[in-house]
Amino acid sequence: MDRQLLEKNARELVSPGRGILAADESNGTMSNRLEAVGVKPSPDARRKYRTNLFSADGYESAISGVILFDETIRQSMDDGTPIPEELSRRGILPGIKVDTGAKELANHQGEKITEGLDGLRERCAEYFSMGARFAKWRAVIRIGDGLPSPACISTNAHALARYSVICQEQGLVPIIEPEVLMDGDHDANRCQEVTSSILDATFSECEKQGVHIPGALLKPNMIIAGKGCNNQISREEVARMTVECLTKHVPHNLPGIVFLSGGQSDEDATAHLNLMNKMNAEHPWQLSYSYGRALQADALGKWAAENAEDPSSASRSAFSHRAKMNSLARSGDWNEELEI
Ligand code: 13P
Repeated sequence: MDRQLLEKNARELVSPGRGILAADESNGTMSNRLEAVGVKPSPDARRKYRTNLFSADGYESAISGVILFDETIRQSMDDGTPIPEELSRRGILPGIKVDTGAKELANHQGEKITEGLDGLRERCAEYFSMGARFAKWRAVIRIGDGLPSPACISTNAHALARYSVICQEQGLVPIIEPEVLMDGDHDANRCQEVTSSILDATFSECEKQGVHIPGALLKPNMIIAGKGCNNQISREEVARMTVECLTKHVPHNLPGIVFLSGGQSDEDATAHLNLMNKMNAEHPWQLSYSYGRALQADALGKWAAENAEDPSSASRSAFSHRAKMNSLARSGDWNEELEI
């Protein structure tokens, strides 16, 4: 394991003012999103939408890495440049989603286990040779009546740690993503409780299996009440509870935490991160973003807007704007007036 390379790239991904663009929606998810805005999905429609974002002016000052899907890492820009090469040329690290999706967990109705360990070593080696320098694996934890079960927590934690050591052996920085979903009517305290247990289980497995923590990143949810809960907490409370939970349950030698947006509004995702970075406290790790929807929702809408004069340019501007807003949130320098 090349610890120095892993540490260098992990630090690069959370360098000041920069964060990650998650553009690794599976073909199914990306097709659904395109269809929802009236665009007929196809490999080339997905390529066109994404390469348009990847050609936005100057976004590399806010984006340190882009997570790609297997289809996308093999595609090219309009001028024929392979996508990973175009990203590297801009000083952006190409990343790759390596799990093969969350499947039903046997004997546990309503719960999922993320698969993709078979053949992972060989796939990682191929992705590294194509230019990828980091990877992502997403575990999904649902809160509900009696959920999550201990089996869901332990199997997903085990898989996250196995994925992480395999990636590190092959030179890829693993992004460890145990996502506690916002679906449901649970309150923020319950989210905190469940997030704490999945984090404890995951880092305990990582220790057992020998994951090199300074060469990894964590991609967690924030502590937020479920979408259906009547008792929503303030942005300040989200920031406070999230930092408190992470400080207790995440090793302090991890270089960075890159949040997912998980269905928060674009502005909430930025505001929460901003508040955390504005706190009068030295956090042990960098606090950054690895947003999918919160960086792309507006850009996708503009891409598909009928009768717009230049949808591609409007889409690039929307993406650049969100990237810039989140870049400012890295240092607590964002404010609402900048959104107009
Ligand atoms: P969202 O920010 O849309 O949650 O996506 C991030 C991601 O990569 C989920 O795996």
